Amino acid sequence: MSRNASYTQLARDARAYIGQDHRYAHSVRVARCAELLARRHGVETRKARFAGLLHDLARLYSPQRLIAESEARGFYISRVEREHPVLLHARLGAAIARERFGINDPEILSAIEKHTTGAEPMSPLDAVVYLADSLEPERRFSERQELWELAMRDLFGGLRETLALSARRRAEKSARAAEAAASS
Ligand SMILES: [Fe+2]
Ligand SMILES: [Fe+2]
Repeated sequence: MSRNASYTQLARDARAYIGQDHRYAHSVRVARCAELLARRHGVETRKARFAGLLHDLARLYSPQRLIAESEARGFYISRVEREHPVLLHARLGAAIARERFGINDPEILSAIEKHTTGAEPMSPLDAVVYLADSLEPERRFSERQELWELAMRDLFGGLRETLALSARRRAEKSARAAEAAASS
């Protein structure tokens, strides 16, 4: 990415690439939230906006395409990722940001790559983008506002609580699935 690649140009290209208003609007909200968190916590706001805008480039790919494009790039694909190819959209999104959008900054690429699972270790920029994606205002869950306020005060405290909540939700979901399977 050239030093002065403009956000406006990038936003235009991202909108065309994503090709769906709903997903693009989410990306813009994530970019804005990432910028707010970054400013509050002394993280580079430009990197936060760029990563937020581009984090979901591969989110609308079909499961087949996610697998095929990951294989084409030689990614290791875990069993869980084969069962849930949507998990690959973060790593693949980072590859597309580099290949198609000319983003070479490893910090931006890392934040895109880690926005779904929050893999350790998380840099402040990784945390900013993860939290912006999880807590943008159109996310509808009762803890959202409280977690956002916590994240604005304490970045890694907010990260811990948000990761814990999503782990709890995943556990509940698989318990429900197991129950449904047992009773069918
Ligand atoms: Fe995503
Ligand atoms: Fe997202």
